[in-house]
Amino acid sequence: MHTVLQSWPPRPRDPSTMLLLQTLCLGLTWALCLAAPGREFVQIERSQVREVLPLALSDQVDRCEGIEFDAIAPDAKGITFFYKGKHMWTGFHGPAELLSASYKELEQHPLLGNIDAALCLHHADDADHKHVFFFLDDKVFSYHDHTLEEGFPKDISQVFPGIPSDLDAAVECPKGECVRDSVIFFKGSEVFHYDTYTKKVKTSQWTHFPNCTSALRWLDHYYCFHGHQFTKFHPVTGSVTGTYPKDARDFFMKCPNFGRLSNHTERERCSHVHLDATASDGLERALAFRGDYFLREDERTGDGWHAFPIAEYFKEVKSDLEAVFSYASQLYLIKGDQVFLYSSGDKYELVEGYPKPLKEVLGIEGPLDAAFVCGEYSVLHVVKGQQMFDIELTAVPRAVVKEAKLPFAKLDAAMCGPDGIKVFVDAEYFQYATPMLLAYSRIRPEPHKMSLDMFGCDH
Ligand SMILES: *[C@@H]1O[C@H](CO)[C@@H](O)[C@H](O)[C@H]1NC(C)=O
Ligand SMILES: *[C@@H]1O[C@H](CO)[C@@H](O)[C@H](O)[C@H]1NC(C)=O
Repeated sequence: MHTVLQSWPPRPRDPSTMLLLQTLCLGLTWALCLAAPGREFVQIERSQVREVLPLALSDQVDRCEGIEFDAIAPDAKGITFFYKGKHMWTGFHGPAELLSASYKELEQHPLLGNIDAALCLHHADDADHKHVFFFLDDKVFSYHDHTLEEGFPKDISQVFPGIPSDLDAAVECPKGECVRDSVIFFKGSEVFHYDTYTKKVKTSQWTHFPNCTSALRWLDHYYCFHGHQFTKFHPVTGSVTGTYPKDARDFFMKCPNFGRLSNHTERERCSHVHLDATASDGLERALAFRGDYFLREDERTGDGWHAFPIAEYFKEVKSDLEAVFSYASQLYLIKGDQVFLYSSGDKYELVEGYPKPLKEVLGIEGPLDAAFVCGEYSVLHVVKGQQMFDIELTAVPRAVVKEAKLPFAKLDAAMCGPDGIKVFVDAEYFQYATPMLLAYSRIRPEPHKMSLDMFGCDH
């Protein structure tokens, strides 16, 4: 029986959801883009993300080569953008795009140099919309929806009185993290805390601190980027705790050929790049796959997560999985339209006859985004785009028996363990008690931070 379940809760673009988000951003005349980036990221339909234009070979720049970025800032949707010279990058993976395709005016002022700093803020008189600000020499450009606003560019001193020209970096800092809603500007070792409400400026010298060429607020933490490295800092005092600097390529971008020499366990635990797949392996061991590596936590030994190369343990699949689940002490690794079945034990061994076509094994076409089975149940939940399909694993042949629409435009991975279901979207995850709640609950749970809350990373 093929039952399509119709009733479905509000779409991510439901006006009430948007209103709630906007309300969160109101308050003071200059509210900041303070929605946690991931939270808003999932509000957008990924199909609406602009198409990446292919670049001419001569225009290609690889951020995995170790770039000193001019600026890093979220856009109004909470997606992090990286800027360098004529190029920009969307999020933590993917190729370079030309800046001129999105912000052509920045290049039409021949006397101005490259971007010095970028920010995302609300205007004093426009609490409904977030604006992206670019600072170049003594000018500031304000964009709304990729359109330059009337009257811009303006002098920095006119829009941000007391803030100098030729900045190095800027980052927004909402009340609670800073004393007041503020912007932190960097120039050399000078740091300016600009109160977005009173426009008062407090200047400090952070001489202990690297000179930042860009700065980013990400999941409520503050990062100063310098060279191809970064240092996490306290936004009020500038104090640094932990071992810094660290290489940005380990944690803020997906660089398959970089990081061979870095500490794999630290990199994989602390990376902000999305996961490919997660599962429990049927022996109380949780697994999380990303690119060429997987992390494993053995709940019995309790000594935390460790990273291993996929090619060493699952040599037939090597890398870049799409979905993984465990059933009857066997692990199903799904890549493209193939299923690799492994027996779980001290070693993982490919079961004879595999890989097999996905359609033949599960009765569904790929590519899949995620798959999970809860406890001893025999129902497999498969996520493909916004749909979740239930497949009864004891049936022959296997086929979809139920279908539901999920409240996420796209997920990266999902797993089911003793504490329920975890759904991974970019650098965050959401927990649900049951598959029914995932499909039908109208309230999105609070997001958790993947690297901090799940992998116990401290940065
Ligand atoms: C940082 O900037 C200050 C100017 O404010 C300069 O004197 C200093 O040499 C710079 N430090 C580095 C490491 O470039
Ligand atoms: C790698 O990092 C982990 C913490 O994530 C640490 O426990 C381990 O000792 C480090 N390994 C090396 C070789 O430094």
